Amino acid sequence: MILRPVQDTAADAEVVQSLARAAFASLPDTPGATEPPPASVYQAARTRHLARTDPQGCWLAELDGEPVGAVLALRREGVWVLALLVVLPRAQGKGVGRLLLDRALAHGSGCLRGMLCSSPSPAAVRRYRLAGFTMYPVMRLTGRVDRSGLVDPGDIPVHPGNAAHQHLLDSVDRRLRGSAHGPDHGLLRAHCEELLIADSLAGSGYCYRDGGEVKLLAATSKRIATRLLREALARVPEGTQARVEALTAEQEWALDVGLEVGLTVESCGFLGLRGMRPPAPYVPNGGLL
Ligand SMILES: CC(C)(COP(=O)(O)OP(=O)(O)OC[C@H]1O[C@@H](n2cnc3c(N)ncnc32)[C@H](O)[C@@H]1OP(=O)(O)O)[C@@H](O)C(=O)NCCC(=O)NCCS
Repeated sequence: MILRPVQDTAADAEVVQSLARAAFASLPDTPGATEPPPASVYQAARTRHLARTDPQGCWLAELDGEPVGAVLALRREGVWVLALLVVLPRAQGKGVGRLLLDRALAHGSGCLRGMLCSSPSPAAVRRYRLAGFTMYPVMRLTGRVDRSGLVDPGDIPVHPGNAAHQHLLDSVDRRLRGSAHGPDHGLLRAHCEELLIADSLAGSGYCYRDGGEVKLLAATSKRIATRLLREALARVPEGTQARVEALTAEQEWALDVGLEVGLTVESCGFLGLRGMRPPAPYVPNGGLL
């Protein structure tokens, strides 16, 4: 078994995607199980982005020259984030996951805080708990948006954002989780349909939406977060399934918005945190947190 760095190439991005597809497909088909990440331009771009920004956090495990597992991790201003950990079904239960996770954790040495999104896999939960993470059960909201449930938006203006809002985004991130997403905002801007910004005397916040998915939301108050989530859901194209994931009990404000517009709540894995409490009001991005 050797570990080698993930290269910033289309070939390595494809290897990581096919490992992820096979690994997630191996999860038991239980309600709330994490679905395999769809092959997407975004997934490939994220792998290449992280191979560039965090070469010491991104590794492939190879056995007899064949890739059997992958890990992607990043560090941003003192927060270590696990973006992906996958092992091929035939190689699972033999310590490959531990080896990959240990290598990725070494990239975070000196970081006081850590974040990850975990599937319901008992093997994953065992690995993360043994690495010191507190595991918070999470819920997800899915379904068609019932527009009659979208109540009056009130007086907080929301407008489209762009690269000029980077400082605002970083400031909100630092307030909520002690660290900015920094370069990851460029990746999200390039791959999400829109970035929404609220910035008023009542507070500030932002939300990325792509199709029906809320990809990341952070705000300085529940009022602003609620306004942004309502606006994002109002903009989900007619007939598209909405999806808001990784909500711990701290995000009841989001649950309430989802219920208002007729979305379904299910449980779906865990948010793992080390050295910090769940940021709120906050909807994490499962692959960048
Ligand atoms: C999670 C995953 C990466 C772990 O990789 P792996 O190579 O199987 O991990 P390891 O063999 O190093 O460790 C698995 C541990 O879980 C334990 N385990 C396995 N199945 C278990 C079960 N059903 N209940 C409890 N423990 C279990 C193993 O005994 C082992 O613990 P030990 O080393 O202390 O004995 C792999 O199973 C996987 O790819 N799963 C599907 C994708 C996924 O869920 N990824 C997780 C992140 S979102």
